[in-house]
Amino acid sequence: MLWTTLATALVGLAAVAHGGPAASDPCAKIAGQAFVVPSDALACLKSFAFNETLRQNLLTVISRVFDFYTFEDYYLNSPPPFQESTTNIRADITRINSTNYATDYDFNRAVYDFTNQLNDGHTRWLTDCYSTFENLLPTPIVDIEQNGVWGVFIAPDLADLIPLVGTQYTDYYQSIGFNWERLAGAQVLQIEGQDPYAYVDYIADTVSGNYLDHGVRVNSVFSSYRISDTSFSQRFGDLAGASFPDQNSITFTLIPANSTAPETVTVPFLANFAGNNFTDSASYWANNCAANNETNGIDQLSTSSLSKRDGRTTRRLARAVIVDKSHTNAVGLPSPFYPTAPPANGSTGVIKSFILPDNKTGVMFVGSFEGDYVQFQTDTQAAIGSFQRAGVSHLLIDLTNNGGGYVCLGEFLISYLSGTNFGYTGFQSTSRANALAVKIVQNVIEKGITSNISYYAPDNWAFLNDTEMPNTYDYNDPSVPLFINGQTDASSQRFHDLCTPYDVTPPASPPFDLKNVAIVSNGDCASTCSMFSTGMYERHGTKIAVFGGKPGETMEYKGMAGNQVLEWYDIDTEIKTAGLKDDPLAPPDLLVSGDFRHNWRTAWSYFDESRPIAYVSEPAPYRYPYTKDTYMSPQNLWTFAATQLFD
Ligand SMILES: *[C@@H]1O[C@H](CO)[C@@H](O)[C@H](O)[C@H]1NC(C)=O
Ligand SMILES: *[C@@H]1O[C@H](CO)[C@@H](O)[C@H](O)[C@H]1NC(C)=O
Ligand SMILES: *[C@@H]1O[C@H](CO)[C@@H](O)[C@H](O)[C@H]1NC(C)=O
Ligand SMILES: *[C@@H]1O[C@H](CO)[C@@H](O)[C@H](O)[C@H]1NC(C)=O
Ligand SMILES: *[C@@H]1O[C@H](CO)[C@@H](O)[C@H](O)[C@H]1NC(C)=O
Ligand SMILES: *[C@@H]1O[C@H](CO)[C@@H](O)[C@H](O)[C@H]1NC(C)=O
Ligand SMILES: *[C@@H]1O[C@H](CO)[C@@H](O)[C@H](O)[C@H]1NC(C)=O
Ligand SMILES: *[C@@H]1O[C@H](CO)[C@@H](O)[C@H](O)[C@H]1NC(C)=O
Ligand SMILES: *[C@@H]1O[C@H](CO)[C@@H](O)[C@H](O)[C@H]1NC(C)=O
Repeated sequence: MLWTTLATALVGLAAVAHGGPAASDPCAKIAGQAFVVPSDALACLKSFAFNETLRQNLLTVISRVFDFYTFEDYYLNSPPPFQESTTNIRADITRINSTNYATDYDFNRAVYDFTNQLNDGHTRWLTDCYSTFENLLPTPIVDIEQNGVWGVFIAPDLADLIPLVGTQYTDYYQSIGFNWERLAGAQVLQIEGQDPYAYVDYIADTVSGNYLDHGVRVNSVFSSYRISDTSFSQRFGDLAGASFPDQNSITFTLIPANSTAPETVTVPFLANFAGNNFTDSASYWANNCAANNETNGIDQLSTSSLSKRDGRTTRRLARAVIVDKSHTNAVGLPSPFYPTAPPANGSTGVIKSFILPDNKTGVMFVGSFEGDYVQFQTDTQAAIGSFQRAGVSHLLIDLTNNGGGYVCLGEFLISYLSGTNFGYTGFQSTSRANALAVKIVQNVIEKGITSNISYYAPDNWAFLNDTEMPNTYDYNDPSVPLFINGQTDASSQRFHDLCTPYDVTPPASPPFDLKNVAIVSNGDCASTCSMFSTGMYERHGTKIAVFGGKPGETMEYKGMAGNQVLEWYDIDTEIKTAGLKDDPLAPPDLLVSGDFRHNWRTAWSYFDESRPIAYVSEPAPYRYPYTKDTYMSPQNLWTFAATQLFD
């Protein structure tokens, strides 16, 4: 690869001045190390020269994928309380196209930051090349009420949490003589010389991304409990677990737990490598940065993919989920915080269910809508069956840090709680009818392509009377004009999702009186999780309580709601399968490894069918602070919530 050679040569030249070729390759210097000081990690990431060919490639891909983005025009003037996300997407692309960048990293950061600050976890540039390190601070912060005052504290559980990162991590702090243990539970007076909540706001605005609502982003800055994959986990939060190794330390003014005297402490970060192994810059590039055989989409009708066909005749499963990089190398929840109530049946997957010691309240902690599609359904059935047999009368659903997953599992869970007699539990949906999308649907129909290989195939959807569309029905003909912020955009006709029949048939009528069902979360509930909670709220008036956030500031109960995400691989596959890769409107193949994902479908509010649920403000009806007892202990939080939300 010519340009890597050139970059290496340039770095080599620079290094001569510092004496010796051994020190010349900043990636070779850190090869094979799991933990690296941030400045060394960043030096490796910045060792690749800016390349105009790669800029044109990525900007062309993203500008043509933005043509499919459902919310583009909303950004021109984002409605309150989401106005912080207002931007002109096309002007941003032009700006990045004409800015001088010193390195390929700087260019990629500009694209990352621009898309990250759209605050839509469905729509962003995820670079594989430069997201290989998670920068970890051994003093995550939490937001708790103590003696009636809501404030920022260093997490009290450091002694249990930090060792879970591993001895290489703790050995490093010992080697530099840094005592993090004594900071556990300290009250934070200032961060980087600012009021702690002002600094938290700054991280929420510039680092967190993913959620349109500022209040929800505030909560993702703090450390919190979650289910990562199928295990209880403690998330470091966006202050203490950063996506890039571009910060060496954070300075706190704080009062240690056993003291009354404020002091100023500078806490160093250490970066944890989570990429593919390498030995030097060239192999770093080859293994982490160059496009690979899974970066770009495939033509599913070509003979080479025909040979790999699984003969699947069922519909492909739509997904709506955010990407939280902190799931890579996730640490467990410290053992003192595990629920002590015995798990109910159906608790081995992403759902963990319990009956609280009051014997009246069943809890389902729904960690995501990902994982095993069928098991989610059998686990729901098992948990609710256990609750009913135990005579439980109240159901609490915890959606803390639920990033979404399969669209139909959200609809399944609403349907299970509502009873099938209730009918359709999704929303009205549309995709954009841009010129290329119109051609894709025409070609899909012409080629007889069905929903087992294409998301554009009409038999993925139902008319609003819940009858499946025939595979010849062109739902973009005629398209429907959508007027937003002075722009006119073509949208598809409205349709419903098709999720039934499920693998597990929900009961005909609700298993619990719906008045006795309530939801708790930290607001970080995205995608399918947003659709689930919005469905429960808009259709059943379900009580929803959100914990944490900034005192005195409003907060939505949901994070970001689309109806379906397409990864770069997915949209490229749709274009290639429809035979349109040579169309002048089609994006080229990516030359680097990464994902430019986008929100491909809108879910329209049931309350107001002219507005996407993403833009309907629904502040959390109940708000509570975390306390020392509840900030990391799910069972303590559920026990408290049951006393507040149920009569
Ligand atoms: C820039 O990247 C392209 C695509 O990988 C490569 O062909 C070209 O040689 C690179 N240019 C330089 C100056 O390194
Ligand atoms: C990468 O290197 C680490 C540390 O040397 C090693 O433990 C790990 O197994 C390697 N991973 C792969 C995929 O080779
Ligand atoms: C970037 O700007 C150049 C020069 O004006 C133009 O030729 C190119 O098409 C632009 N690239 C993109 C992706 O808009
Ligand atoms: C503070 O003192 C208590 C009681 O002596 C002790 O258990 C705790 O570990 C101390 N906390 C810190 C952070 O040193
Ligand atoms: C891509 O290549 C890797 C390594 O050679 C292989 O394990 C993987 O199966 C390939 N993936 C596809 C989709 O061909
Ligand atoms: C999709 O289903 C059709 C029958 O409806 C079948 O002929 C075709 O092989 C399937 N395609 C794939 C990729 O499984
Ligand atoms: C709940 O049920 C268990 C087991 O039947 C029993 O031991 C316990 O006393 C009950 N608790 C309450 C609060 O009724
Ligand atoms: C859990 O499931 C098993 C078998 O699936 C069943 O025998 C048992 O009664 C269930 N337990 C409860 C508490 O419902
Ligand atoms: C459902 O709606 C479609 C489109 O309007 C119509 O063609 C179809 O006949 C309807 N089906 C039923 C069962 O009403």
